[in-house]
Amino acid sequence: MARFITLISVLGAAVHVSAWGNLGHETVGRPQFLAPKAATFVHSTLNATWNFSLGPAAIWADQVKGEAAFKWSANLHFVDAEDSPLTGSCSVQEQRDCGNGQCILTAIANFTTRVVETSLPKEQILEALLFLDHVSLVHFIGDIGQPLHVEAIEEGGNGISAKCSGESSTNLHAQRSDTGMVTKHIDQSHGGTPQQYANDLVAEIKTGAFKSEAASWISCSSPTEPLSKRSPPGEMLERELKALVHAHRSAQAITPLACPLVWAAESNAFDCSVVFDFTTGEDLCSGTYFANAIPVIDLQLAKQGFRLAAWLNVLFDGATKLP
Ligand SMILES: *[C@@H]1O[C@H](CO)[C@@H](O)[C@H](O)[C@H]1NC(C)=O
Ligand SMILES: *[C@@H]1O[C@H](CO)[C@@H](O)[C@H](O)[C@H]1NC(C)=O
Ligand SMILES: *[C@@H]1O[C@H](CO)[C@@H](O)[C@H](O)[C@H]1NC(C)=O
Ligand SMILES: [Zn+2]
Repeated sequence: MARFITLISVLGAAVHVSAWGNLGHETVGRPQFLAPKAATFVHSTLNATWNFSLGPAAIWADQVKGEAAFKWSANLHFVDAEDSPLTGSCSVQEQRDCGNGQCILTAIANFTTRVVETSLPKEQILEALLFLDHVSLVHFIGDIGQPLHVEAIEEGGNGISAKCSGESSTNLHAQRSDTGMVTKHIDQSHGGTPQQYANDLVAEIKTGAFKSEAASWISCSSPTEPLSKRSPPGEMLERELKALVHAHRSAQAITPLACPLVWAAESNAFDCSVVFDFTTGEDLCSGTYFANAIPVIDLQLAKQGFRLAAWLNVLFDGATKLP
């Protein structure tokens, strides 16, 4: 069963356009998170077609993946974790789940090297940035809406069905239901606009509930690791991104990076807590399921915006440069 599914399955294409796209723009495109050179790179690479920012660009990779010219990218949107969340066992393993080197984990390494490869044609650099933006913002939010994903439901074969505000998630309506969870949240708690939602998350990072933990989001250490063993925030990210860029120049094989693996495991762990914690026929957009899911969506979204900014800042400004 495709478990560590990606944002596309999590939220559906519609929400990418209406919510996550703008959200990415608002959270990541802000000067306070992007360091000067990273901001300049984003602004110059994403021209007027993309409104000069990451948000509107985040949907591109999903828009093109059905096209013949982009068939090669279809498997790069996710990693199918062959774990067992329904029996309480969650994990992402590089060899088991991405053994063929064609998954979101290798794609992140691939497009990271390409985004800074100045000898590439401009369109290729743009493509790398669009892809990176998409997979990190859209697909690393986690599995929270995954039970609504049609393919997972079918592949899982265990008759999972899901409803949002009374609307059943059949094959046809899954995406709309996916959208429903976030749309309802934005309507209820964030003034009905993705921009307001983004502003609120940024405020949580800068001065609110996320302030004390935001730095730990870029430590690339597993939350289960003892504090004494964790590397200082940003250090490992900086080290491995610099090593990656160096390694690529000497044409080594693409292998997943440690930080995205930690982040994948972190998202995947929600499969064993909130994601599958519902009964058949339950309305996921109300009650306990909704109440448990929303904080996870807030958290994962804030994290990934912060992490993408850190990522680009290391690549272009040499350090994470974050509060
Ligand atoms: C943006 O750049 C792409 C190629 O990188 C080009 O095809 C497109 O016309 C440009 N759009 C604008 C508005 O300049
Ligand atoms: C860019 O902004 C304009 C005006 O706000 C909007 O109409 C357009 O849809 C945006 N383009 C993208 C790609 O988001
Ligand atoms: C790396 O990027 C190239 C160029 O876009 C693409 O052809 C290749 O499939 C990508 N591989 C992975 C693993 O992302
Ligand atoms: Zn996607």
